[in-house]
Amino acid sequence: MIIVTAALKGGVGKTTTSVYLAALASSNRRTSTLIDADPQGSAADWIAESEDEQLNRIEIAEAPTERLLNKALDKVPPEGIGIVDMPPSHERLLNKALERARIVIIPTRVGGVETPRVKAVMELVPDGVPAGLVICSARTYTRSYQDAMQQYAQEGIPVWGTIPERVSITAGPTGPLAADGLESYKKVWRKILAAARS
Ligand SMILES: Nc1ncnc2c1ncn2[C@@H]1O[C@H](COP(=O)(O)OP(=O)(O)OP(=O)(O)O)[C@@H](O)[C@H]1O
Ligand SMILES: [Mg+2]
Repeated sequence: MIIVTAALKGGVGKTTTSVYLAALASSNRRTSTLIDADPQGSAADWIAESEDEQLNRIEIAEAPTERLLNKALDKVPPEGIGIVDMPPSHERLLNKALERARIVIIPTRVGGVETPRVKAVMELVPDGVPAGLVICSARTYTRSYQDAMQQYAQEGIPVWGTIPERVSITAGPTGPLAADGLESYKKVWRKILAAARS
């Protein structure tokens, strides 16, 4: 199963989402591969540098070009899970990844400019491929969060989870995965599994 973490915008939470989901995907005796398509290699560095044992079982493949991406995707066994962390603003590479996706995760933040960006990514997702939003670093108690959720609901845009803003999540490789971060991403993971079964 190939899961693509897709956003055209920088700094929305793609890498954080990819790493947490890879950690959840690799528990229960399953292994997962985190395919880092961002030349910055932040996901690869995170896995390499972190001492969190939940990240031990994750295979990492650095694949910042079309050729390397296809190669890395070919290596994911049919029963395995590959999670692709995309770079920002590289639409051509994103389209290549989306062609191979079983599930698409769209990280986003709350804010007026975000909704059109989310829609732009949704338009790139091939027909029939399930896609859901993850609202990252959210201040769930704010009016703007409530309004954004209401708007997504009205427009029928699926939100698969909200990850609250937490300093412990910002720690990245310098600290363990945050317990409440894992709790929130677990809900997203369940949505992914449900979408994959349908
Ligand atoms: N739930 C959260 N709470 C607090 N900080 C968060 C949360 N999620 C992400 N962040 C922080 O937001 C910043 C951007 O996150 P991340 O690197 O995951 O985004 P990205 O989309 O991969 O960025 P880029 O486009 O540069 O690859 C990071 O500093 C990260 O620690
Ligand atoms: Mg990133």
